[in-house]
Amino acid sequence: MNKKDLGAFYTPKHAVNYMLGLLSEFNEKSKLLEPCGGDGAFVSVVLENNLLKPNQISVWDINPEVRNYIEKFGIKFELKDTLIKTTFQQDDLFNKINKFTHIVGNPPYLNKQSSYIKKNKKELKKFYDEIGVNDTYALFIYLCCHLLEDSGQLCFITSNTYLTLGIHKKLRKYLLKNFVIKNITLCPHNLFKDTGALVNTCIINLINKKPSNNDDIIFNDCRSLEVGNYDGKKHSIKQNKILNYPDYVFDFNGNGKLIEKIKKVGKLIDVVDGGLGMHTTDNEKFLGIVDYEGIRYAKNGVRKIVPINEVKKNGWKFYHKKGGDTKYYLPVEYCIKWDDEAIKNYKMPKNYNLNDERQGFLISGVCSTLSARLATVGALWESNKAMCFFPKEPDKYPPEFFVGILNSETYNKIIKILNHTNSIQIRDIKKLPFFDFNNEDIKQITKIVKNIIKQKKNNLEYDFSFEQNQINQIVNKYIL
Ligand SMILES: C[S@@+](CC[C@H](N)C(=O)[O-])C[C@H]1O[C@@H](n2cnc3c(N)ncnc32)[C@H](O)[C@@H]1O
Repeated sequence: MNKKDLGAFYTPKHAVNYMLGLLSEFNEKSKLLEPCGGDGAFVSVVLENNLLKPNQISVWDINPEVRNYIEKFGIKFELKDTLIKTTFQQDDLFNKINKFTHIVGNPPYLNKQSSYIKKNKKELKKFYDEIGVNDTYALFIYLCCHLLEDSGQLCFITSNTYLTLGIHKKLRKYLLKNFVIKNITLCPHNLFKDTGALVNTCIINLINKKPSNNDDIIFNDCRSLEVGNYDGKKHSIKQNKILNYPDYVFDFNGNGKLIEKIKKVGKLIDVVDGGLGMHTTDNEKFLGIVDYEGIRYAKNGVRKIVPINEVKKNGWKFYHKKGGDTKYYLPVEYCIKWDDEAIKNYKMPKNYNLNDERQGFLISGVCSTLSARLATVGALWESNKAMCFFPKEPDKYPPEFFVGILNSETYNKIIKILNHTNSIQIRDIKKLPFFDFNNEDIKQITKIVKNIIKQKKNNLEYDFSFEQNQINQIVNKYIL
């Protein structure tokens, strides 16, 4: 296996020093584990600083190449797949679990699509069902929590997706209920840049102790600091409070009041339908980019270019599949072949209404800000890049109204609380609140949005910041 398949990106020295500094109470009784030790980034510093003796340290790794290097220090090394070959659940009385006072590391970040998870899914499910098999780093956190002695301490640097993503809800609950989470440090964006890994990371430091009502988690936000500087903006939040938040999201930006507010109101999903889109199974074969007399609104995805007049004839349907930050309006970008032969290949959700002639709106699935725009009537859409929704009561809540509120500052703030990454899923949209908007505000927002769309139809570059501000002010009233 190569370095990438093993998720082997080594920890920079400043992060090692910072993390070891978070751990305390090293003494002659301590037992330290690095469960995926690689080149010994942590243990070499532990020895250098005389924190522990070599015989107090254990290192495990799946890669035989690191063995000699680790054993050279006089440290116990075990060559194994830590996730699969470690006894950590006490259901077998004869198999004594080996526990540790300190566990430190930088576990591999391999996701569901990785060859490792695909290959071992069945086996992993046996051990990790409580949190689900999603990312290897999450499995390492869960496993190592079981290997801590009472009051033992763990410090890991991992991808930060588990702080909010829906798939990690069960891991968050497990941690919040069973451990005192002392602090979570949000690392600078490009911490691993030198090693070629583009991943946003955070450092968790927890203690194996039942949390009480008084325990606070301290978030140390170093995201905008220079790499190596760990003196970030800090704020703390009562750990048990997070157990009442939607999906137990780790609110690292101090938005507690807003979260309390959105818990009390209805859901946007109750007033719209639609959402899930389709797959062609072969975009190159079945999709085309619509050409509006030389102008195209999609740059890639497929090679075929189809003139707009052609699309309007039988044999094609309009198709949305563009994410990104485009707001309010964009002419439909793609078209999809529509004949009996082609249709056989398509994977469509059960409730996909092919003859839906209602005016819907799109929300980008991949975007840096929450972005909504008007859909093209009768167009179909792909599953992840642009999700299409339709108002259930368009007379009361017109589609333009939804476009307006979704593009507002308030909804942008809310979506980042619910999912701080740039990949928004239907499950996140389902969590969005719907405030008790009064008729006057609905009318006002709809009117402003209709005007923005009219302007954008003339000029796609139209600067709508003035109107956006007006909408922001109206929506903002509902969270005060
Ligand atoms: C991100 S590197 C970290 C290495 C080192 N601890 C550091 O911080 O610089 C991850 C390490 O995990 C090891 N690894 C990957 N999958 C593993 C598994 N299932 N069991 C044990 N070790 C594994 C890799 O060989 C690699 O050395």
